Amino acid sequence: MVVMMMMMIDLYIIDGWVELKWGNGWEFVSLFSVIIHVLVSVSYAQNFNVMNFGAKGDGKTDDSQAFSKAWAATCGASSSLKELVIPPGKAFLLKPMKFSGPCKSRILISIEGYLMAPFKGPEWGEEKKKWLVFQGIHDLIIKGSNKIDGRGSDWWKSCNNTDNCMRPTALSFEDSSKLHVSGLTHINSAKNHISIHNCVDVHLEDLHIYAPHDSPNTDGIDISESRNIEIVDTFIGTGDDCVALNSGCYNITITHMTCGPGHGISIGSLGKNGEDAKVEGIHVKSSTLNASDNGLRIKTWQGGKGYARNISFEDVTFIKVANPIVIDQYYCPHKRCNEQSSAVQISDVSYIGARGTTRTSEAIILNCSKTVGCNNITLDGINISAVDNKAVSATCINAQGSWLNSKPPINCLK
Ligand SMILES: *[C@@H]1O[C@H](CO)[C@@H](O)[C@H](O)[C@H]1NC(C)=O
Ligand SMILES: *[C@@H]1O[C@H](CO)[C@@H](O)[C@H](O)[C@H]1NC(C)=O
Ligand SMILES: *[C@@H]1O[C@H](CO)[C@@H](O)[C@H](O)[C@H]1NC(C)=O
Ligand SMILES: *[C@@H]1O[C@H](CO)[C@@H](O)[C@H](O)[C@H]1NC(C)=O
Ligand SMILES: *[C@@H]1O[C@H](CO)[C@@H](O)[C@H](O)[C@H]1NC(C)=O
Ligand SMILES: *[C@@H]1O[C@H](CO)[C@@H](O)[C@H](O)[C@H]1NC(C)=O
Ligand SMILES: *[C@@H]1O[C@H](CO)[C@@H](O)[C@H](O)[C@H]1NC(C)=O
Repeated sequence: MVVMMMMMIDLYIIDGWVELKWGNGWEFVSLFSVIIHVLVSVSYAQNFNVMNFGAKGDGKTDDSQAFSKAWAATCGASSSLKELVIPPGKAFLLKPMKFSGPCKSRILISIEGYLMAPFKGPEWGEEKKKWLVFQGIHDLIIKGSNKIDGRGSDWWKSCNNTDNCMRPTALSFEDSSKLHVSGLTHINSAKNHISIHNCVDVHLEDLHIYAPHDSPNTDGIDISESRNIEIVDTFIGTGDDCVALNSGCYNITITHMTCGPGHGISIGSLGKNGEDAKVEGIHVKSSTLNASDNGLRIKTWQGGKGYARNISFEDVTFIKVANPIVIDQYYCPHKRCNEQSSAVQISDVSYIGARGTTRTSEAIILNCSKTVGCNNITLDGINISAVDNKAVSATCINAQGSWLNSKPPINCLK
């Protein structure tokens, strides 16, 4: 009887909320079976604490084996709520490692302890591209209140001003769906802090990402080949882009980001080595760029193909930003580029409500491909002045679109 009743009921436990859905059965009887089901679910809720798998948490011992075992147990268990616990008050040294799916059901990882990478040295073995990798997982929540420390300073010194220096990305999310990452502080990655590649339905919230302003290539969040991503309430200040949205990005919304120091919020770089880039549906809202080199930048290399379109920037504040609004279709950071005629086509880009200060005279630069050009660029409600109150300018090359209410005026936009 009870078993029959339970079949009519689906019970979901979502972040501590209990959500009930029942058919048209008798509610009185349903209530009993719900209570039984809750008891059963609770007894099935399992915690896997890394300390029970041999982790030391002393900041010196390599705990990656213990984490791998704890992950295997968590991922393989079939209870309805599974939690991998990384306890507070301890520091865990982890060699490069992978948390792979698919898992039997959804997983919560609680990062309450301090996670640290080995310093540059033999501990990295052959693996120098990635530190912690989450791959092939559906329905993963990572919550924390502590820090993830990439300890990248030795890599920065040896990789400064070299184009191709192999060093690890701190956190990589690959081939995964339904990810929710929140609450963490993430510092000093050797290279980019977070990479998201080939993922769907990702929510990043309340993340703090910091590295020194002169640490090379320490992007905050890099995204490629992924869609339906929300980034909410984040603070990012590093030596490179706060966010870089690369080819294959679709439907990405960034809200309430505070970015700086660093190179700003970037779309691209796109079209390197003839790449056929596709970027569409990018929306940046209610964000602040503070003392960054660029503010809102779209950057493409000469010789690329494809498009970047349906992009909006709305309600943005600039504080002492060097170049607040930039489209650069001649991106070439190492100054070794040949003149090429093809380019990623940029269109349908709007800047609505963007105000504040610049530390140069170049408030707006729309430097579009001489051969391809940009289409339908719209600006409204722009108010950018120089820190020293000198005149500021807007320059355009081959940019087509319209503007209203702008200081400086954008007479170059046709
Ligand atoms: C990298 O080089 C630049 C320019 O030479 C310098 O300003 C910066 O401080 C260096 N960064 C590091 C981390 O050594
Ligand atoms: C865009 O992504 C959000 C989640 O971030 C989702 O709710 C929405 O349906 C998506 N829109 C489209 C057009 O795919
Ligand atoms: C722009 O992108 C969003 C998804 O981010 C989508 O909902 C919307 O329909 C797109 N608009 C156009 C004109 O394609
Ligand atoms: C901008 O950055 C400066 C220097 O880090 C800081 O003192 C200031 O509070 C920041 N302003 C805002 C509005 O975040
Ligand atoms: C546009 O890019 C070209 C090629 O890099 C450069 O020579 C030119 O100065 C740029 N124009 C502006 C207005 O930035
Ligand atoms: C121009 O871009 C805006 C969004 O920025 C879009 O709503 C509008 O439909 C586009 N106009 C044309 C003619 O494509
Ligand atoms: C532009 O910003 C300045 C400084 O904040 C302010 O005094 C001025 O009223 C603003 N202009 C418009 C048109 O909003």
